[in-house]
Amino acid sequence: MTIYNDLLNHKKVIDQTHLKDLFENDPQRFNKFHAEFQDMLLDYSKNKITDETFSLLLKLTDEACLKEAISDMFEGKRINTTENRPVLHIALRNRSNTPIYVDGKDVMPEINKVLDQMHAFSDKVRSGKWKGATGKEIKDIVNIGIGGSDLGPKMALEALGFYTTSKLNFHFVSNVDGTDITQTLNKCDPETTLFIVSSKTFTTQETMTNAQTAKDWLSVHLGEKATKNHFVAVSTNTKAVKAFGIDTKNMFVFWDFVGGRYSLWSAIGLSLMIGIGYDGFIELLEGAHEMDMHFKETSFDKNLPVILALMGIWNTTYLGAESYAVLPYDQYLDKLPLYLQQLDMESNGKSVKKNGKPVDYSTGPILFGTAGTNGQHSFYQLIHQGTHMVPADFIAPIYSLNETGLHHDILLANVIAQSEALMKGKTAEELKAEGVDEELIPFKTFTGNRPSNTLLFEKMTPKALGRLIALYEHKVFVQGVIWQVNSFDQFGVELGKQLAKAVLPELLNKKQKLKHDSSTNALIEKIRNLRN
Ligand code: F6P
Repeated sequence: MTIYNDLLNHKKVIDQTHLKDLFENDPQRFNKFHAEFQDMLLDYSKNKITDETFSLLLKLTDEACLKEAISDMFEGKRINTTENRPVLHIALRNRSNTPIYVDGKDVMPEINKVLDQMHAFSDKVRSGKWKGATGKEIKDIVNIGIGGSDLGPKMALEALGFYTTSKLNFHFVSNVDGTDITQTLNKCDPETTLFIVSSKTFTTQETMTNAQTAKDWLSVHLGEKATKNHFVAVSTNTKAVKAFGIDTKNMFVFWDFVGGRYSLWSAIGLSLMIGIGYDGFIELLEGAHEMDMHFKETSFDKNLPVILALMGIWNTTYLGAESYAVLPYDQYLDKLPLYLQQLDMESNGKSVKKNGKPVDYSTGPILFGTAGTNGQHSFYQLIHQGTHMVPADFIAPIYSLNETGLHHDILLANVIAQSEALMKGKTAEELKAEGVDEELIPFKTFTGNRPSNTLLFEKMTPKALGRLIALYEHKVFVQGVIWQVNSFDQFGVELGKQLAKAVLPELLNKKQKLKHDSSTNALIEKIRNLRN
């Protein structure tokens, strides 16, 4: 790991440098440190980097054999080593239809077949041809799923709300908390509601519990036979779908080579396709495919996902940032941070390398964020003046889909001002010159020197969203390769699941002897004494 050591040494130089000085000393800094693709502009000049930093970071990509890793993914090699699976979300949006082989078989015909099936079904629901058991048109669509089987379509339907049919209401039930399904069912009429049970495994406790409650609710109102008109499934598990009582004619399949958090582009996007229509969905795939090609074919110094990944690695592994804020200045992208939280933290929240050895450096950061300007009146205080360095991605469309008076200009002024403030800060001298009271100066001083990226794009469209999501997917991929972790498994969610299975019967049966630690025992006792 020679580059690792070089970068650690180089950090000592950077620690002595202020971002403001880097800008003052080099009027060409923006020109050097920005990259463009289609209508996207990535300005990464407000990171604590110099030419040397950038060239050392680029060397990391050689050391990690990034080029080969990208080819391996696109060629369908089994890069998810712990689960022995290829990783082919890129095939789902492979609009050029070039064959992609898994075990000698081209996966594209199957993918296109499911897309056609989704097309026919979504058209029927949108046009009112798909009828409920009593002959009425569908008005409410309820997606039941969790994690990757929920967040993608939920985020994208909101992001593309401008393009979504107003004839249908969309609901997402994910939490096993009965309040989630109860509140949703209270808004729906059984005669006009369609449930999409979305689960890759079709065994996830939350989803199956919610799906059963929905099925019981429907049966009470319309009888068991109504299931066939009101339930469809999206899954890889045909047997379990059948056992649940959903007609497999109404099942939309996907495959093991699609990870849950990368499944928006598969049939998991069915609710989205119903919302924005087939053409809109295809545009989304096209946008993602464009980004895939850019990622695969562009030299790394101009490659948006690679650059974004390198800035993140620099900030996290070398400069010690533990968190990372994603701050979309677009109300439509309000759920983007939530979506990226799963994408990034479930992928790279790892401490063991692919070779089974522990890492001795920081990997994936804690990701959070919200739509601007709301965050400015909440957690930005810490980002500007707290003791933690929180690198941020500011994301903004140049045009609003709802241009109203000066709203969008004000919004854009804010996003620009935030990154400038984080970079420059405000010195005691500047405050003095403004006549600020001496005793208030320490409180009003901003250190600045806080890194951020700014990503501008023209306006929110299905294509733009496709590009944006694929950009972050590939960023996470690059980081995983350089950190040498497997970004495609998620064993970290297993232990809690297993223990919950053991605790459930103990909660239900007061007599069952408890063998946990004193805290766990006491908590179980307290709950079961009161509940029983
Ligand atoms: O949280 C673990 C996880 O496996 C996610 O990766 C996945 O998106 C989610 O559970 C839901 O899984 P499924 O689609 O199988 O219900």
